Amino acid sequence: MTDQPDLFTTAGKIADLRNRFQEAVVDAEAAARTKQHAKGKLTARERLEMLVDPGSFVELDEYVRHRTTAFGMDKSRPYGDSVVTGTGTIHGRTVAVYAQDFSTFGGSLGEVAGDKIIKVMELALRSGIPIIGILDSGGARIQEGVVALGKYGEIFRLNTAASGVIPQISIIMGPAAGGAVYSPALTDFVIMVDKTSQMFVTGPDVIKTVTGEDVGMEELGGALTHNTRSGVAHYLADDEDDAIDYARGLIGYLPDNNLAEIPVYDTPFEFETTDADRSLNTVIPDSPNQPYDIHTVIEGIVDAGDFLEVQPLFAPNIVIGFGRIEGRTVGIIANQPSQMAGTLNIDAGEKASRFVRFCDAFSIPIVTLVDVPGYLPGTDQEWTGVIRRGAKLLYAYAEATVPLVTVILRKAYGGAYIVMGSKQLGADINLAWPTAEIAVMGGQGAVNILYRGEIKRAEEAGEDVAAVRTRLANEYTYNVASPFLAAERGELDGIIEPAQTRVSIAKALRALRNKRASLPAKKHGNIPL
Ligand code: HXC
Repeated sequence: MTDQPDLFTTAGKIADLRNRFQEAVVDAEAAARTKQHAKGKLTARERLEMLVDPGSFVELDEYVRHRTTAFGMDKSRPYGDSVVTGTGTIHGRTVAVYAQDFSTFGGSLGEVAGDKIIKVMELALRSGIPIIGILDSGGARIQEGVVALGKYGEIFRLNTAASGVIPQISIIMGPAAGGAVYSPALTDFVIMVDKTSQMFVTGPDVIKTVTGEDVGMEELGGALTHNTRSGVAHYLADDEDDAIDYARGLIGYLPDNNLAEIPVYDTPFEFETTDADRSLNTVIPDSPNQPYDIHTVIEGIVDAGDFLEVQPLFAPNIVIGFGRIEGRTVGIIANQPSQMAGTLNIDAGEKASRFVRFCDAFSIPIVTLVDVPGYLPGTDQEWTGVIRRGAKLLYAYAEATVPLVTVILRKAYGGAYIVMGSKQLGADINLAWPTAEIAVMGGQGAVNILYRGEIKRAEEAGEDVAAVRTRLANEYTYNVASPFLAAERGELDGIIEPAQTRVSIAKALRALRNKRASLPAKKHGNIPL
């Protein structure tokens, strides 16, 4: 029991503040620790302390308390309610943060918890600083009914207003159930912790009742599911430390807001061709059907080979992520020949288009590395909307006004050539390796259509048809798909040795540093959704 201070004296008022702080923060934190640690989880404050630079966290609204009386709620009015909010720095740059506190009312969101989140989001938006939310919550506070639902509505509206203005990152470190999943879904990056985080709109019990389907929580909405199947999440963290490291890493690449400069690191840049550069000359196999790992090329062009991949487990046939060139952030988009031969499908298109739009909103130049044999054929793709959903990537590139540099490494066929940052869609500098093949379709496909008669004659004459096909396909590739034909027409700005790629991209980005481009005035476009 604390002594009651004399509130008519200054010393008494200060003592009263200390007592209240003890109750609101110190004692509450001790209680939260007991509950959360028993579940192998950290507390909201511990998570925020880890997220921001040591000693930089400044808590806000720790004395907020709910006013609900229904269901006997007036008997329990903990300070701070079920969320901890505040500001801190990451790599010395200010960010706004909040973390739901599952140890208080299951982290559920009622009126005042909602207001705390809204307040810190508004602060972030007003100040032009990124916002990072850590979610661990049973969703809308059941006792507060429509008021709780209304707060979610306000949060969604703010998420939308902040979209493209400040970077928004969600880290899921527990349940995110019901409509509550839509706040993270509206943010730019969703990080989930393996085994301890779940996101779902309707839980296993409801599913069982309504459809009879039997599915566990983890399979339905665990971190692995959302990283590999649904594409809702952008990173599968091994544990809470890993999730926080990834979020801190992301912030290092991002500007504070859409009007701020991208962060620039003082990095020495080698303009001479290095041995590592020369190793790119042997990346492309002689056989056009042999895969290679595009990461080798990406790591060969970004500073110190540091590449922060986004959504590595979803649609791995396209690779997206951040790197730096000359110390400045770039977004990389690259086909991955070692997965589904690098074909484009719906998932890959949606993954890449959202990334293009993020980079464009935040003035991050985009480097596109192309090795794509075409769109993945099949009824599954056609019937699930490859036309409508595939059009997103065209739209995203065509609308982007940031510097766009594209390098064609090998295949660039058909519509996939156009969509992957082609000159005609608005790319600024388009380069190709001498191994590039640019045409309406690949050699084998073209032979089937163009040389049908010749193949038939060879068959009738008893010739080695496979050899004839290969000869004709090679001729077609040489005569029609040669990058020099594209270069002749100015559709490429240059053909470079692979070893020159790193320096060529750096020089292109230098040339484009002051690029200015704008779109016709409009309320907003109507991207096919
Ligand atoms: C009030 C809640 C709560 C909620 C949990 N609690 N969820 N209190 N409102 N939504 C409380 C519990 O009563 C319990 O209180 C404490 O939090 C811990 O919960 P447990 O159930 O003991 O924890 P656990 O076993 O880990 O299960 C976690 C859970 C489960 C899976 C999240 O609590 C759950 O299913 N909660 C309800 C989820 C839900 O359906 N929410 C509404 C979604 S709809 P005590 O006092 O016992 O410690 C929604 C609409 C949003 O959110 C719409 C936006 C448009």
